[in-house]
Amino acid sequence: MQIIDSDVVIIGGGGAGLRAAIAVAETAPDLKVNMISKVYPVRSHTVSAEGGIAGVVKEDDSFESHCFDTIRGSDYLADQDAVEFFVEDAPKRIYELEEWGCPWSRFEDGTIAVRAFGGMSVKRTVYAADKTGFYMLSALWERSLKYPQIKNYDEWHVTRLFRVGEKMAGLYAINLKNGEHAVFRAKAFVLSTGGACRIFSFNTNGNIKTGDGMALAYNIGASLKDMEFVQFHPTGLPHTGILITEGARGEGGYLLNNKGERFMKEYLPAKMELGPRDIVSRSIVSEIKAGRAFKGPYGSYVHLDIRHLGEKKIMERLPLVREVALEFAHIDPVHEPIPVMPVAHYYMGGVHTDKETATNVSGLYAAGEVACVTINGSNRLGSNSLAECLVFGNAAGVQASRFAQETALQTVSEAEVRDEERRITQLYERNGAENLSKVRESMQRTMHELVGIERNEKELEAALDAILKLQERWKRIGLQDKSKTFNTEFTSLLELENMLVVSEACVRSALAREESRGSHTRSDFPARDDKNFLKHLLVERGADGMILKDHPVTITKWQPQERKY
Ligand code: FUM
Repeated sequence: MQIIDSDVVIIGGGGAGLRAAIAVAETAPDLKVNMISKVYPVRSHTVSAEGGIAGVVKEDDSFESHCFDTIRGSDYLADQDAVEFFVEDAPKRIYELEEWGCPWSRFEDGTIAVRAFGGMSVKRTVYAADKTGFYMLSALWERSLKYPQIKNYDEWHVTRLFRVGEKMAGLYAINLKNGEHAVFRAKAFVLSTGGACRIFSFNTNGNIKTGDGMALAYNIGASLKDMEFVQFHPTGLPHTGILITEGARGEGGYLLNNKGERFMKEYLPAKMELGPRDIVSRSIVSEIKAGRAFKGPYGSYVHLDIRHLGEKKIMERLPLVREVALEFAHIDPVHEPIPVMPVAHYYMGGVHTDKETATNVSGLYAAGEVACVTINGSNRLGSNSLAECLVFGNAAGVQASRFAQETALQTVSEAEVRDEERRITQLYERNGAENLSKVRESMQRTMHELVGIERNEKELEAALDAILKLQERWKRIGLQDKSKTFNTEFTSLLELENMLVVSEACVRSALAREESRGSHTRSDFPARDDKNFLKHLLVERGADGMILKDHPVTITKWQPQERKY
């Protein structure tokens, strides 16, 4: 078995992982960094982020205002010390990325342009047309290439983490190109593997977002936090789920029902289409229930109308929206409204960390969508997540490099390595009767139909029962493909196992939270209940399965109040 040593291992090559790797290289140039990614880094899901990155970069804005918007948006479940740190650091990361080559869009006067985004009191979303993630990821990737001490292991799939006592010590990974196995050892590790919305049938996420990091961390005793909170973005393209950016509404786009009415005036007149995502998505669901939506082959939808912006502005600010609508819905938004429906988009919950990205496993840090720091609470504001990748990616890199300099490499238990080798070999050889894609489809349908925007006890109980049965069926899935070169059937099997862990954590937490808060709407408990539920829920691995625990919310100066806009 090949053993590959370094000082720091970064697991995941998207925005947070690349920023972490750069932070290690810049703070401690002597440290060796190995970056493992299941895809080539510029194909990470950060590439598909569209509308922009939030940060206080204008005179009419303030840290106070960005903090308050984020905390109110979270329905008071964000940890306020983490939010303050995030808001103050975000502008530095935005300017720094510009120095590294990210071409932010500009106003006429040459200053960095900002656009409106949902739930924000002022225009504070910096953007690069509507391809912000693409430009950011390219700049980060190119910057990372400057450091020879960062070594990339692209297209390697991590199957297990190893600890020695309380400390993270190594991991087991497979080279997808040839099936070779290796153990990576390091003194510190950063988990930056992204989110998990592929557990839902209709989602904006790339195929790779299968909750791997959440499941890997949970399996070695890290806590997961706030797993009931999943963000549904109001404007997904029917059938494909491709994101139609909130930037379209930020630039002035309207949402219309089948009567041609701007229905948001009934739900949130002060903010209209620029309400936070949980409220706008629920409003669309209400329009659908009231029979005021359009019916199509892929379900009910409303219209997003940007025609009044005109071709010039659309081509300058929203070229991807036009391209996607033309390619995938065969309509030209310059002349026709775009059909849209709410779509699973972002996982607010994730691996529990403190505000400096440390998990409860010593030497393991987490950043980006895989992590729950918590700045998003029960509802993230659009454009905070790209800033989150940079701020907490950097923080994780700094913390990991400090930790690596103070600690020694651990020897991973040979018995555990052999155990994992055996497990992987047996998985390859499986001849079970169950079909992988049927089990996956069943999970996605269960999650979408029973654990979506609106939830209740009966449906959540049914979902839990279904997920537990699917976990049993997973054990009987047989593999047709026994090859060692890019065996996507095999990696899908591993990913499905991870998604079933995330699904179970989501459903158990959703059942336990008997209130409605942010993205978590319980029709049987319609009110927010601060007395009993102003707290995080942790999910931990116990001897007999998942255990739920309470964890306090950090309040600094914004006392919880009714969430009003
Ligand atoms: O709509 C969007 O462009 C998405 C942004 C985000 O999720 O932050």
